Amino acid sequence: MPLDDPRGLRLTGSAPAALDRYEAALDDVLSFHGDPIGGADAALATDPSLVSAHLLKAHVFAFSLHPGLLPKAAACLDAAEALAAEPRERTHAAAARAWLEGRVETARSAFANILDDHPRDLLALFFAHQADFFGADESALLGRPERALAAWPAGLTGRGYVEAMCAFGLEEAGRYAEAEAMARGALDANPRDAWAIHAVAHVMEMQGRDTEGIDWYAERRADWAEDCFFAVHNWWHWALYHVDRDDPTAALAIYDEGLAPHRRSITLNLCDAASLLWRLALGGHDTGDRFGALAAAFDEPAKRPCHVFNDVHAMLAFVGAGRRQRAAEHLAGLVSVAEGRDRHAEMLRMIGVPVARAFLDFADGRFAEAFGELERALPRAPLMTGSKAQRDVLEMTLIEAAIGAGEREAAARHLRARLTSKPESARIARDLRRCG
Ligand SMILES: [Fe+2]
Repeated sequence: MPLDDPRGLRLTGSAPAALDRYEAALDDVLSFHGDPIGGADAALATDPSLVSAHLLKAHVFAFSLHPGLLPKAAACLDAAEALAAEPRERTHAAAARAWLEGRVETARSAFANILDDHPRDLLALFFAHQADFFGADESALLGRPERALAAWPAGLTGRGYVEAMCAFGLEEAGRYAEAEAMARGALDANPRDAWAIHAVAHVMEMQGRDTEGIDWYAERRADWAEDCFFAVHNWWHWALYHVDRDDPTAALAIYDEGLAPHRRSITLNLCDAASLLWRLALGGHDTGDRFGALAAAFDEPAKRPCHVFNDVHAMLAFVGAGRRQRAAEHLAGLVSVAEGRDRHAEMLRMIGVPVARAFLDFADGRFAEAFGELERALPRAPLMTGSKAQRDVLEMTLIEAAIGAGEREAAARHLRARLTSKPESARIARDLRRCG
């Protein structure tokens, strides 16, 4: 006998007790806390036929973008596909399968089909939002949760999570005041909503509100740093304010506490670590032997490229560590993958390979080449995926390449534009002085 979830969705399954456990796991996914895989397993221990639990696990593994976890996603999908009695569930499985196979647009269309008929399918909305993020569709980051919100009755549980997604979409669209208000509203519903905490942090980053940002994370530390699988990225945001203040000591203290690679780091965690160390190194700051450990952690996942954002950050780690040969091998590997026909290959051709080559040129001291490559790549930066704050590493490198190439007026032009968004940035002010 099928089950009905609190938002009116019909689920394949037979034990109401399992549904409660699944709802707890879904809450973990949406708030980025706890152990959603363990929660879904607990639901399946009660009711192995609860397809949504298999789907939740499949999506979590598939969207980790971590090569070691992708086979687990495929196994969960096999289980879901064998059991799914609801058309909505079969479309979920199709979305995850497409994502896993690099058919990003097919995955996003499948999610859209689900949400057209079931706008309160939180599992679909959450992973569609992630697919829009990693699939480089900025307008959908806002449009999709906005449509869901319009179909969300006031008082129905889960609304805060939809607001948090809306807030991030508003932030990436540059609508900062609306984004902050929406995210703060979501936090009223759940102070531990790590996506909402992160949306406010993005607004502060883009507006150069460094002191507020530092306080924002310090005051809410228990809500994002404890038992939270989105913690590493929030540590990164916390450190960025210190980068802007040109305070490497504070930034590196955060790196050591929250970003340094460890046994359970996934590739996206390593990307945040590389991004931070690279920004500090660009500023002329000594990062000690941290790049070496980070490059070693990147070694294995970088051998199986699966996402352009990870691919270019692996290059940062290799060149940052001075591993010239490994960096050259990585570039050659990306060039080879770029000959494929899927979306990953296309994104590598459009942005990944030129940017990786620019980073290698920069590290080798070919500043004019790096500057030229990054100038050409910058208009296509959204294809690298990631947020505006994450992609900022491109312009920061471009500026340093311009200075190295003697193109000081070009560097100053970029720096003056940055200063209008971040008038209190000590780092930008210092770099401007270097331009004379
Ligand atoms: Fe972020």
